[in-house]
Amino acid sequence: MKSLIELAQPEVRFLKPCIHGGEVWEVVKEDFNRFKILDFSANVNPLGPSPLALNAIKENLWRIPYYPDLNATQLKLAISNYIGNIEPENIILGNGSTELIYLFTDVFLKRGNEVLIPQPTFSEYERASLKSGGRVKFIKTNNDFTIDINKILSEINSKTKIIFLCNPNNPTGKILSKKEMEKIVNEAYDKNVLVFIDEDFIEFIPNCESYTLIKMVNQFSNLFIIRSFTKIFALTGLRIGYGIACKEMIKLISNFKIPWNINILAEVAALATISDNQYLKKTYEIMKSEKPYLYKGLKRIHGLKPYPTYANFILIDIREAELTGSELKKRLLNYNILIRDCKSFKGLDEYYIRVSIRTRDENKFLLESLRKCLYE
Ligand SMILES: Cc1ncc(COP(=O)(O)O)c(C=O)c1O
Repeated sequence: MKSLIELAQPEVRFLKPCIHGGEVWEVVKEDFNRFKILDFSANVNPLGPSPLALNAIKENLWRIPYYPDLNATQLKLAISNYIGNIEPENIILGNGSTELIYLFTDVFLKRGNEVLIPQPTFSEYERASLKSGGRVKFIKTNNDFTIDINKILSEINSKTKIIFLCNPNNPTGKILSKKEMEKIVNEAYDKNVLVFIDEDFIEFIPNCESYTLIKMVNQFSNLFIIRSFTKIFALTGLRIGYGIACKEMIKLISNFKIPWNINILAEVAALATISDNQYLKKTYEIMKSEKPYLYKGLKRIHGLKPYPTYANFILIDIREAELTGSELKKRLLNYNILIRDCKSFKGLDEYYIRVSIRTRDENKFLLESLRKCLYE
């Protein structure tokens, strides 16, 4: 018999295992005493899930022996109310927003098509594109990690099918203005290029209305935007996210997805949390006080160079501390703190780490532990 790799699709040969933050289970292993672990590696709301979401799960356990609503009608309606000026037919739900990245490339990429991806950014755009037979052209960001949109636009050629943009960008925390985004979408539209915008972190900005392109999906049929319940609502393990686009695009992608991709408990939890205004208010208060607190605290530690951020996480250059991200990660684990070593991000080397912004006590503990790890 031939080797399995010869029997597999050619694309499979190039795929590598995923590396992401939030690997708490790997760290904890059998030692559940370690479960005091403070996870600064996954960029999730430090409040944890809304109590309304947890109650909804408890009250709806009886639904488990039933299939979920195929169309998730109620939840789509709730999302359309939450966003405003968007109809349920503009929405598709995903098993995490990750599922939608893969669905998108499966629906639109043909073998040999090219995608443009700024670098560094979230790795799943590349993986999904390769899996669907696409070729990836990375666009280097400026030295301060800002994105040059003219550089992106100048790379469009007859093979270009998709431009991926993460706004704000993971792991750099940089953002493109609405005007810049509109310019990209407009020019791409004229050239039959699709624009995939990942807004998974945009809701951590209280005035995100002035950045999002979500209300433009009916105007631009080449636009697809994802958001998630993973980050802002901390429903991480339930796996639920959504995509917004014109109705024709939503229909195309929905026809391609597997049925019942959203489990029934994720659906009820999402429904409960999306109307919890108190929860969002508290989240904004935490971000308002903790972002400057953590940023300034990091800046005061010799050897650390944090980058200003629009998101709920901070990228830090640790080169001058003269140790690698993986060594610092190892040392912080002695304090039960998990951080993201960023060496797996293309475009970064082993001297970058990323930490999420958490509550005051937790941020204070991180700063103290960093000082001890580096200088005691
Ligand atoms: C930028 C970005 N997009 C998408 C995702 C995937 O999120 P989800 O849990 O919704 O699949 C992540 C997760 O880390 C992310 O950082």
